[in-house]
Formats: sequence, structure tokens, C-alpha cells
Amino acid sequence: MQRSFVMIKSDGVKRGLVGEVIGRLERKGYSILEAKLTTPDRATVEEHYAEHKERPFFGELVNFILEGPVMAMVVEGENVIEVIRLMVGDKDPRQAAPGTIRGDFANSTTKNIIHASDSVESAEREINIWFSK
Ligand code: PPS
Repeated sequence: MQRSFVMIKSDGVKRGLVGEVIGRLERKGYSILEAKLTTPDRATVEEHYAEHKERPFFGELVNFILEGPVMAMVVEGENVIEVIRLMVGDKDPRQAAPGTIRGDFANSTTKNIIHASDSVESAEREINIWFSK
């Protein structure tokens, strides 16, 4: 069994998509082990996205996440990291396939509803950032 860190970003919460996203994960057969609706502080969000600190979009991305509460979750299942990334879809709305979460609900590269870990190492790091405090 594998664990992923999944976050419904501030736009997803604001738009009332928490149930939709969790429903998709549950119907896929994954278990929500932990979930909290939380308004993170800047340090937590900057730590989460630390690898992108030098990217031109870093400030915009962090400020957007801080716009409101997010739903932080630990999701468990077989191959959950890779499969959830498929379910999430591409960050570029022009590339996000219909049927994926972003393909169905996002039309912006910044406001793109959901984050999901991209590797076992990222998942461990992110779960620790969001759930050890
Ligand atoms: S890259 O280019 O492959 O390194 O980018 P990627 O790893 O896919 O994206 C890193 C996270 O930054 C978000 N992102 C952006 N936010 C705001 N503006 C722009 N232009 C932008 N480009 C990428 C992207 O959604 C990733 O966040 P998460 O939360 O992991 O989806």
C-alpha cells in the first residue's frame, strides 16, 4: 500500500468541489486516512513548494494557495501516487484531458483545483509538512 498527499487548493474549496474530488478518490477505491480543512500559514505553503522557489510563478502560486482554506489529505491505495496524478490531469488547461479533475473543472494553470504528490519521497515530505504539526 502506498500513501499520497493530496490538497484541494483554495479555488477548489471556494467552488464547492471538495465532495466531488473526494468522491472521485473514494469511487476509485482509495481510502482517505487523514483530512483537515485548514488555512495554512505562509511558511507551510512556501515549504511545501520549496523546490519551485526560483520559478517566476512561485509568489503567485503561494499567494493563491493562501487565499482561503485548503483541504489537506492523506490518501492510501495501491499505486495511489501515479494513479491520482492521472486522475488530476495536466496543469496546462489546454492539455488536461476531459474526465480528469483539471480537465473537467480548471481553466487556469494557477487555479487548478488540486495538488497530488509526484513520488514516494515527495509524499513522505509533504505528509510530514502538513500533518506533523
Ligand atoms: S514544472 O514546470 O514541471 O516544474 O512545473 P510543475 O512541477 O508541473 O508545477 C509546479 C507547481 O506549480 C504549479 N504551477 C504554476 N502555478 C502558477 N502559475 C504557473 N504558471 C504555474 N505553473 C505551474 C503547478 O500546478 C504545480 O503545483 P501543484 O500544486 O504541484 O500542482
